[in-house]
Amino acid sequence: MKKDLSNKWAFVTGSSRGIGQQIALGLAQLGCNVIIHGRNLDNTQKTLELLAQYPTKSTAVAGELDSAASVAALISEVRKIQPNIDILYNNAAISCTSTPVFEFDMAVWEKVMQVNVLALAQLCNAFGPGMKERNWGRIANLSSGIADQPNLAPYSVSKAAVDKLTKDLAFEFKDTGVRINCIDPGWIRTDLGGPDAWEAVESVLPGVMAPLIIADNGPNGEYFCAQDYKFFD
Ligand SMILES: NC(=O)c1ccc[n+]([C@@H]2O[C@H](COP(=O)([O-])OP(=O)(O)OC[C@H]3O[C@@H](n4cnc5c(N)ncnc54)[C@H](OP(=O)(O)O)[C@@H]3O)[C@@H](O)[C@H]2O)c1
Repeated sequence: MKKDLSNKWAFVTGSSRGIGQQIALGLAQLGCNVIIHGRNLDNTQKTLELLAQYPTKSTAVAGELDSAASVAALISEVRKIQPNIDILYNNAAISCTSTPVFEFDMAVWEKVMQVNVLALAQLCNAFGPGMKERNWGRIANLSSGIADQPNLAPYSVSKAAVDKLTKDLAFEFKDTGVRINCIDPGWIRTDLGGPDAWEAVESVLPGVMAPLIIADNGPNGEYFCAQDYKFFD
């Protein structure tokens, strides 16, 4: 297992707080340069401060994932910093207010699918082909173990779509050095997970690094669980 990502560049969506912030720290600990992201630059300051203790490069971009146009603008910001992204960590997502399943407004479905699925697909479209051309890359997509909660259907359906897209893209990358996988972080005490969740946010490390440090012929289109690694170094 090669636990060294020196000189690689990663882009982590939603790394201003929560699980994404831990992912950014985990990457820097493995020597990786990181472009972090939040909806505005003020929100990214804390993560940048935490990353300053590492000798790696870190910088921030900001933007909404709630429309194709704002995602396109974000992609060009990232490319200005580093045209060749080696690691795309699709972490940002939104949930929805608990609602009786037949009463969800379609605007809620649309927003959740846009941020959680369409933006993720657009980011894969932007950075996946370059990884394929260079024959190296890692894409990790945040999934969820959510089940039997129709009151959060837009969120859970969006994660099922992420799982399926991951499998389809894995087939596209099958004979290359690019690996794409899903990762379920566990139920984590963050703004999204809420205060009653089982695990502290730090518990996602080192597991969230697992889909990045696999061999080039390693798992592809698979489902990692970060909590499985919580007793690993
Ligand atoms: N927490 C859990 O229990 C749990 C369980 C299973 C899966 N997950 C998944 O893990 C991932 C991270 O979750 P988390 O709990 O760390 O969430 P979180 O604490 O709510 O953080 C969300 C992050 O996404 C960004 N973000 C939110 N809405 C956005 C938008 N419209 N456009 C662009 N960026 C946006 C936020 O940026 P700002 O700071 O700028 O708002 C923030 O960096 C998500 O994919 C989630 O579905 C979480």
